[in-house]
Amino acid sequence: MPEQLTAPRFAAMKGGDRKISVLTAYDYTMAKLVDSCGIEGILVGDSLSMVVQGHQNTLPVSMDEMIYHAGMVGRAVENALVIVDLPFPSYHLGRHKAIENAGRILKQTRCQAVKLEGGVEQADTIAALVQAGIPVMAHVGLRPQSVHQLGGYRVQRDRQQLLADAQAAEHAGAFAMVLECVPTAIATEITQKVSIPTIGIGAGPECDGQVLVINDVVGLTSGYVPKFVKAYADLGKTITEAVTAYRDEVRSGAFPTKEQSYE
Ligand code: KIV
Repeated sequence: MPEQLTAPRFAAMKGGDRKISVLTAYDYTMAKLVDSCGIEGILVGDSLSMVVQGHQNTLPVSMDEMIYHAGMVGRAVENALVIVDLPFPSYHLGRHKAIENAGRILKQTRCQAVKLEGGVEQADTIAALVQAGIPVMAHVGLRPQSVHQLGGYRVQRDRQQLLADAQAAEHAGAFAMVLECVPTAIATEITQKVSIPTIGIGAGPECDGQVLVINDVVGLTSGYVPKFVKAYADLGKTITEAVTAYRDEVRSGAFPTKEQSYE
């Protein structure tokens, strides 16, 4: 059995012969499936606030809820590096609180790293976490936890700010960074200028890797789907057809038959 990927080995994939694939997962069954496919990074994203819990944005999900889902994913994964989002505002209340919360993730789940949103303004927190032995993935560009401040989910185009954020995260000791909704030219420049992997989502093809939300990839979506998504399956349709067929067979008495019954 291959050894589980570590944060340093994930970071060392920069400049390698292949791009890095990352997907979200929020529960045991899906995490096991994703891990069995050889995906390098599995992110327990705070997107679960929307995708699993049905909230309008990522702000409501709590620390305890993130740990609950990270526990399920951590128990399932044997190969990939598992990164857990620090939810809002678990790392905004000072470095000690950030270490306490990130430490809970490492102590109470089998996951190995955390992700937080921000660059320049979170550099001290990233450095403190790294000093405490906690691998940190940064998240630069569109930061969904700041949706109210940013005025919506928009492409981020301030080149100077984006470069400063990316370099601050790198210098603070992050082992990788997500670049979300950043024009291709700026994402390419950042990727060339930093020594850690850039993992793009809506940041073009030149990043060192890509991340998507698993529900989007398998077609389990409802409502708005961003331009950067590519669906590789339509599980929503498959599930609807299966459930409808089951309903009809129960109603008509066609299920169960002798085959599913005991003598
Ligand atoms: O919460 C999340 O799922 C994320 C990724 C989409 C990058 O942050």
